Amino acid sequence: MAKKCIGVLTSGGDCPGLNAVIRGVVKTSNQLGYDCVGFLQGYEGLHDPVRYKTLTPKNTTGILNQGGTILGSTNKGRFAATVGVSDRVEIEPELLAGVQTTVEQLGIEGLVCVGGDGSLAIAQQFHEYGIPVIGVPKTIDNDLSATAFTFGFDSAIECATNALDRLHTTAASHGRIMVLEVMGRHAGWIALHAGIAGGGDVILIPEIPWTWENVCHKILSRESQGKQFTLVVVAEGAMLPGGYSVASEQTGAQAHLGGIGQVVAEEIEHRLHRETRVCVLGHLQRGGAPTTFDRVLATQYGAHAVRLIVEGKLGEMVCYQPPDINSVPITEAVNQLRQVDPDSSAVQAARALGISFGNNTGDASPFTSRVKSRVQVANHDVTSDTAMTLDAAEAALASSL
Ligand code: F6P
Repeated sequence: MAKKCIGVLTSGGDCPGLNAVIRGVVKTSNQLGYDCVGFLQGYEGLHDPVRYKTLTPKNTTGILNQGGTILGSTNKGRFAATVGVSDRVEIEPELLAGVQTTVEQLGIEGLVCVGGDGSLAIAQQFHEYGIPVIGVPKTIDNDLSATAFTFGFDSAIECATNALDRLHTTAASHGRIMVLEVMGRHAGWIALHAGIAGGGDVILIPEIPWTWENVCHKILSRESQGKQFTLVVVAEGAMLPGGYSVASEQTGAQAHLGGIGQVVAEEIEHRLHRETRVCVLGHLQRGGAPTTFDRVLATQYGAHAVRLIVEGKLGEMVCYQPPDINSVPITEAVNQLRQVDPDSSAVQAARALGISFGNNTGDASPFTSRVKSRVQVANHDVTSDTAMTLDAAEAALASSL
């Protein structure tokens, strides 16, 4: 009789730790007597043409600390199940039927789909169709509901923190203002954590509305204390004071965020006549080896995904609910952005240290008793209505001066 089989694929934007999940799935499957196959280029490898490779402990050895994914990945391919962040798009029935056939022909008992919210929305439609899936939450943005951490986030903030450490010394040497633009889509987790860890002075995130006056005030107040340089960390999805995010590109209704760092740097220089430089960290945040935290998390996710298949708990997404690895229905995790709570203890601690979020709370104390929830969850769809291109943002600022 043919051995039982488990499938795995990596989908969407890559991040450090994908290979650690693959290795976790392969080694656990092997221990439990399952064969393992990895589909190539995300969901694309599941159908027309079917592309996969057999995975064994031997051919996956040494990948634990490697960035990227040995299986390749596809962002927004034929299977895309959402537009923007949350609008559902039905996957073509012929595609679903094709995947079902592939799964049956290879005798796959469970397909481990590693991805962010867009990719997990695809897994959810597979589940509704009857294809046996398990989700594993991946993204540097850390914006998925139902899990305290996605793997990839810790590696991204290490990269951004490292960048701030480097910018710190050059900013101090020249007495300059340095603006660091980090990724994160519509959540400010990377900016917040890297900003705290890297000694940022101003942190601008999508969750906290801010003004130019408050940003400039912080820079001037540092100068009055003899500090001639300032580090500003801005999340790519932060909204300009006019309520618009900045997009480098517009594809249909989908805004490709990027460019706000440039706008912020130009405006500070214009208002304060201080030398200001911008650094856009970009895809450096997604490359390189995973941190130890991400290796451990990704490994546990891989092992737990196999456990769920063995126990027949299909349609679930593994999640980290400290101190345990658990699971929730995939549907609970997708289509809801997990954003930073402006009243969270991390934000309060940052304020207590004098970090500015570009807003004036008017509170005498940075500590409030308003800690409502540990996270803020939002249904958030950013389309062309709420994003403007970098050129448009610069033009709008110029005309408002
Ligand atoms: O979701 C991960 C992420 O890196 C975001 O932080 C960023 O906005 C986006 O992907 C970039 O996507 P792409 O790889 O298509 O440039």
